[in-house]
Amino acid sequence: MRRPIVAGNWKMNKTSAEAVKLAEELKPLLADVKGVDIVLCPPFTSLEATYKTIRGANLLLGAQDMFWEESGAYTGEISAKMLLTSGCKYVILGHSERRTYFGETNQTVNKKLKAALRAGLVPIVCVGERREEREAGVTQQIVEDHVAGAFEGIRAEQASEVVIAYEPVWAIGTGLTATPEQAQQVHAFIRQILTKLYNSNVGQQVRIQYGGSIKPDNATALFSQPDIDGGLVGGASLTASSFAEIVKSV
Ligand code: 13P
Repeated sequence: MRRPIVAGNWKMNKTSAEAVKLAEELKPLLADVKGVDIVLCPPFTSLEATYKTIRGANLLLGAQDMFWEESGAYTGEISAKMLLTSGCKYVILGHSERRTYFGETNQTVNKKLKAALRAGLVPIVCVGERREEREAGVTQQIVEDHVAGAFEGIRAEQASEVVIAYEPVWAIGTGLTATPEQAQQVHAFIRQILTKLYNSNVGQQVRIQYGGSIKPDNATALFSQPDIDGGLVGGASLTASSFAEIVKSV
């Protein structure tokens, strides 16, 4: 049985004070929820303050990116150990916005994935096709490249710990959600890829989130698909009531 996981990717939103306020609002709304990993991913500058707010509650902390080296002359970068010691358990890697604006590639995602696993963080690896790729009928090829590229050189025991987020780029921040059937099809395909790369245990154990315009009114239909284990929520995670509703629908 895969444990569901719902994460809020706050992207470049919320000062520390605003992050603490949102985390404070979420605590009572989600206090009764059991059996779900609930992860908040604020910007780096709000990690520690958010962690102090949620410590002891049923909320976990994640970061939105990290660098693959452990330390050194890498101006502007953040290491896995820095995230761990700020209270993070999770780290999002390879988000499409990082691929689009910051030159992230399957190779850099692979390096970051190895470094995150080495440090003991749970990576959430984002994969997904752009609109023109879906229209050109190459969704499966793109998703396979993203998954195979990210997992290159990762052993099976480690691979089953990784969380994958399927985020079709055309559905991010656009209000265009993939239909539950479209998402389910790709999630099932990702399990096939993992089975081919490793074995059916890994294919069945890896948790796969859907992301892209998840809202309270479409979450239940998406989460009830057999291969969808939760969500990576952007815009709707910035308001306590809507994120709480989404978490509860898993
Ligand atoms: P939206 O929920 O705003 O579409 O963002 C999805 C996303 O990119 C989560 O990582």
